[in-house]
Amino acid sequence: MISQFHAKLFDSMKDVGEPRFNLAHERLFNMIVDADEILGRAVTAERTLVQEDWEALSGVCDALAMYSKQHFAEEEEFLFKQGYPDLDRHRVAHHSLIEELNSFQKKVIQRDEMDLKELRRWMLEWLLHHVNHEDYAYAVYLFKK
Ligand SMILES: [Fe+2]
Ligand SMILES: [Fe+2]
Repeated sequence: MISQFHAKLFDSMKDVGEPRFNLAHERLFNMIVDADEILGRAVTAERTLVQEDWEALSGVCDALAMYSKQHFAEEEEFLFKQGYPDLDRHRVAHHSLIEELNSFQKKVIQRDEMDLKELRRWMLEWLLHHVNHEDYAYAVYLFKK
């Protein structure tokens, strides 16, 4: 079951007007919650990550990278067809999200001990900020169109 904290965060994620993209955002959000729960358990127990955590985190990370790339490509194709004027900037934003995720993935592969609290914040913001600002900007544009 999803925690109250995660449910609240989920509710704060904006509707971008395209049901399939809202669903994709929900799916990405759920992956991040999976990662956050792994990290949260370690933080609560005041311990570092154990072998099992690293493996689980690596699985979530792979799924997140794969599915984000797919979602970003679908979104870009859709925005291109819609003639969205800010598409180039949006592409750059997607590209830097993938880069951030790749460098996180490398840390997980290297079992790099990270600041878990910092990492949790980064993970939760990674998607939410993009959806609520950059994706929401195209939703507003398409709504006015
Ligand atoms: Fe986007
Ligand atoms: Fe999106």
